[in-house]
Amino acid sequence: MKKKFAVIYPGTFDPITIGHINIIKRALRIFNKVIIAVAEDTSKKTLFTTKERVLMIKESLKGYKNVEIDTFKGLLMDYAKKKGINTILRGLRTVQDFEYELQMALANKKLNPECETIFMMTEGAYSYFSSSLIKEIAHLKGNIKNMVPSPVEKMIKRKFQSKEV
Ligand code: COA
Repeated sequence: MKKKFAVIYPGTFDPITIGHINIIKRALRIFNKVIIAVAEDTSKKTLFTTKERVLMIKESLKGYKNVEIDTFKGLLMDYAKKKGINTILRGLRTVQDFEYELQMALANKKLNPECETIFMMTEGAYSYFSSSLIKEIAHLKGNIKNMVPSPVEKMIKRKFQSKEV
């Protein structure tokens, strides 16, 4: 299969999980380059600052070639236009993701008809993961070892320790 050039993998990544990394690894088999685009404007109240989210991704993907880590403000479609890339990658975990992703893909298509969103099914073992779930487990002092890369595990622990009075 002839590889397409680059794809944008956008998200909040608060924090990146092993599930996200699984999608990135598989995308690298299809695309020459994966641009991980960390959203700065998000309706979510994030635990980590944009800088921290980027740092965790960098630490987790050390040694990975053909991965670019970037941030964006404003509309994803404006960012894609600015980068000159017309393919967006999203992971689908369960049927619950479908409606939200469909809505987002259609809205993005309206904003930029040249841009396609493609979906990759999250592999079974990761399909119940979410960043919020992992943060909750960590906050309650549960084991998140097999859910996040080790640099993320350390940073979550540090973050919750620093929040304790
Ligand atoms: N493994 C594990 N978890 C996964 C996953 C995977 N493969 N794929 C998604 N998730 C989880 C995430 O951890 C996240 O969990 P959370 O809700 O607990 O934080 C959730 O699924 C989905 O979040 P994420 O993938 O980070 O995407 P998002 O929905 O937060 O990000 C943006 C959406 C940032 C891409 C979107 O809001 C956007 O484009 N914003 C820019 C503004 C814009 O253009 N708006 C108009 C859009 S039409």
